Amino acid sequence: MATADHSHGPDSALEQRVAALLARMTLAEKIGQMNQVNAGEGVSVESLREGIRAGRIGAVLNAVDPESVDALQRVAVEESRLGIPLLVGRDVIHGYRVVLPIPLGQAATFNADIVRQGARIAALEAAAAGINWTFAPMIDIARDPRWGRIAESLGEDPYLASRLGAAMVEGFQGEDLAAPGAVAACAKHFAGYGAAESGRDYATTNIPENELRNVYLPPFRAAVDAGVATLMTSFSDVNGVPATANAFLLRQVLRQEWGYRGFVVSDWSSIQQLAVHGLTAGDTDSACEAAIAGVDMDMASGVYAAQLEGLVDSGRVGIEVIDAAVASILRVKFRLGLFDQQPGRATRVPAVAIDERLRIAKQAALQSVVLLKNEAGILPLSKANTQSIAVIGPLADEPYEQLGTWIFDGDRSLSVTGLQGLRDLVGGAVEIRYARGMETSRSRSTAGFYEALEAARTSDAVILFLGEESILSGEAHCRADIGLPGEQARLVQVIRQAGTPVIAVIMAGRPLTLTNVIDDFDAVLFAWHPGTMGGAAVADLLFGVESPSGKLPVTFPRAVGQIPIYYNQKRGGKPPSPETTVLIDDIPVRAPQTSIGNTSYHLDAGYKPLFPFGHGLSYTTFEYANLRLDRTVLRIGEALTVSVELKNTGRIAADEVAQLYVRDLVGQVTRPVRELKGVQRVRLAPGEAATVAFRLHSDDLAFFGRDNKPIVEPGEFHVWVGGDSEAGLRAAFRLLAAGAAQ
Ligand code: GLC
Repeated sequence: MATADHSHGPDSALEQRVAALLARMTLAEKIGQMNQVNAGEGVSVESLREGIRAGRIGAVLNAVDPESVDALQRVAVEESRLGIPLLVGRDVIHGYRVVLPIPLGQAATFNADIVRQGARIAALEAAAAGINWTFAPMIDIARDPRWGRIAESLGEDPYLASRLGAAMVEGFQGEDLAAPGAVAACAKHFAGYGAAESGRDYATTNIPENELRNVYLPPFRAAVDAGVATLMTSFSDVNGVPATANAFLLRQVLRQEWGYRGFVVSDWSSIQQLAVHGLTAGDTDSACEAAIAGVDMDMASGVYAAQLEGLVDSGRVGIEVIDAAVASILRVKFRLGLFDQQPGRATRVPAVAIDERLRIAKQAALQSVVLLKNEAGILPLSKANTQSIAVIGPLADEPYEQLGTWIFDGDRSLSVTGLQGLRDLVGGAVEIRYARGMETSRSRSTAGFYEALEAARTSDAVILFLGEESILSGEAHCRADIGLPGEQARLVQVIRQAGTPVIAVIMAGRPLTLTNVIDDFDAVLFAWHPGTMGGAAVADLLFGVESPSGKLPVTFPRAVGQIPIYYNQKRGGKPPSPETTVLIDDIPVRAPQTSIGNTSYHLDAGYKPLFPFGHGLSYTTFEYANLRLDRTVLRIGEALTVSVELKNTGRIAADEVAQLYVRDLVGQVTRPVRELKGVQRVRLAPGEAATVAFRLHSDDLAFFGRDNKPIVEPGEFHVWVGGDSEAGLRAAFRLLAAGAAQ
């Protein structure tokens, strides 16, 4: 896989090319490289060409047809003084033409390999359209499902987001960033964006440095170590200094501590927004603050182009700041091979057959769907004893909605909806009665309920497609109430009257509070927004062609008031337990003040989520037994092996995602009650058993201590292996200082 960017030492051939080119550039041309311009609809192509020709534009975004991209590249390469090719950026977040599950859904696969494959086909499709830079992966840790951008994230866990984010970088960038078909990736949004207060997008974040380093920064470090070519700053205010002007993040952490040598782009106009934040008085100061803090390229605001020359002339911004920024940008353009390949790079992208791309999209969808509930094994259905099904709900046949957020280039004509997937799979053997029941997921009308009830009454089973339209999540699309929108809950009550088994298939861009409807479902498949092949995957899962194997990458709260609720929380000094929690309906009348409570829970919700991180059922059953450590005393610098016997004790072959959790019982800063440290997806036939082994090195136990420096501390540890974050099979080991006697 791609090596980290700092493999290019200062004396490498690439560095010499960067230095030689930089030495030939005027200040205006240098500032041009720091200027990214929107080339989307409505922008004058002539003004673009003129700016590129004059060397005032080094990158564009949202130019998407190969011809216009090639034309702009020709202007840059053949008509500008130095012939420096353009970076052509686009939000290729979870697919380009063929759309994969939203990243939160891909995270539910817990499978770096399928995530990498998905990024690879997205890169190939985008590169064939002339795109050479994608603004992905989004690796913000997200613990708040009210936040619309949780849909784009890889969930709440630093370990999972680190591994899957690095896999996306590897998929986008490939083995060789200069190969046609590779695109530069962009780890975003640096940093802490997901901690927005109340889950309201762009809202303030206040994150103590220790929390920043232990929770929010690890995925970005993993992306840097995977060789990510670029990073993007977040819109958000981070502890009083917006990320786009935050030298602690951009200079101290990213450059000094991590040795990063790619470049940093702002988010859309986030440099100009520094004045809106109230950090600066206007564009001149905004450009100064951002440049000095370490933002190398201005996305779309034009502030660098307008202000930097004057700032250099006045001495407020040193030429060395400009030179470092431009060197970082040129370094990526050389790594991409653009100087040796433009124009025409897009025509040399290897083609991947549409069937192969659809196969990967279906595989990702199959592994992303989470079986939340399956009472009495109602699933899988079988053609043998299912003569008719009622397919109901506003998301049963929505080729666009199932694609999810950030799919500007998705080809909805390729979509297989749930209804279509069922018709394709069992249409010849099972009668399928379709009744929407509601026009959209937000409908307030119940006019369609009667028809839906009749379809349910006369069928052997109901497949109820519920959830959120895609517009209800994504950037700036946050919700204060995360229940089923519109009158969907009433539709559930009405359908329940038919007495027919009800199987819910829920498509959404976030966890939903299903507490008011979960008891009305006999089974629930949570499909996120599953992408192009979502319906085909759901049909296969409903009729047992494949067993569900997805696991929750984010906690599902019982009530929105529990948020933030996540598995790797701190214990606190008065942790709750079943014995110490009295719920509101059980409180005696006129109870004296001290008689209840005194531990950490909500009277009206308790302390448990509706479904925990890592949860996901299967059509078979798995037994974990015989948890063993090859040693119970470990020294710093050594590793131990944790193994468990995993057996498929059911009648269906299936994948199980075995999870390894660790707890550091005592630390110089308090430590989470559990931390995911290993994942293995294992395929087992009925009755088959396998030994699943995890290697745990003392480095895996590192954290940032009281001085915010990385530390591995001797002490007692617990370790669990199981099928979710509440798994009970536990062992213990002791960590000693290096070289210590027993
Ligand atoms: C948006 C998003 C960012 C995206 C950029 C370009 O505002 O915050 O994630 O990549 O603008 O579209």
